[in-house]
Amino acid sequence: MKIKFTLNGEKVEVDTSPNTTLLDMLRRQLGIKSVKRGCERGECGACTVLMDGKPVYSCLILAPKVDGREIITIEYLSKNGELHEIQKAFIEAGAVQCGFCTSAFILTAYSLLNQNPKPSRKEIVKALEGILCRCTGYVKIIDAIDRVIEQKYKVKQ
Ligand code: FES
Ligand code: FES
Repeated sequence: MKIKFTLNGEKVEVDTSPNTTLLDMLRRQLGIKSVKRGCERGECGACTVLMDGKPVYSCLILAPKVDGREIITIEYLSKNGELHEIQKAFIEAGAVQCGFCTSAFILTAYSLLNQNPKPSRKEIVKALEGILCRCTGYVKIIDAIDRVIEQKYKVKQ
């Protein structure tokens, strides 16, 4: 079956099967390997992408469900070779180690800050609770997001 959707700002048409997950369609059919395959049962969050601006687990969504929707992966964030401010903050705060979870955290932070530009630390923690990181211990990840807010508004959270 053919489905049409917007991927990182561009219209795409993909011939896929009704039981293919969004994760498999992105990785196998569209070659987007930044979307990670972890638990494949909605527990780790490594496969997170944005659907119509909200974080979703791509391992739990069947490809036909994205027909007509907008999907964003981490590739959308950097422009003309320049990293997005959230990506830069993750590097500066030392919030990236193996990197397996990083796209998921950054996309979720991007969605959060689009909806709520000045979230409290508590609201940041709440937004990130569906993603697991085995390396950083979360503090640096939250610090990175705080850093973006701080730089933008010059307010210490
Ligand atoms: Fe989707 Fe773990 S791979 S939640
Ligand atoms: Fe390794 Fe998060 S940086 S799992």
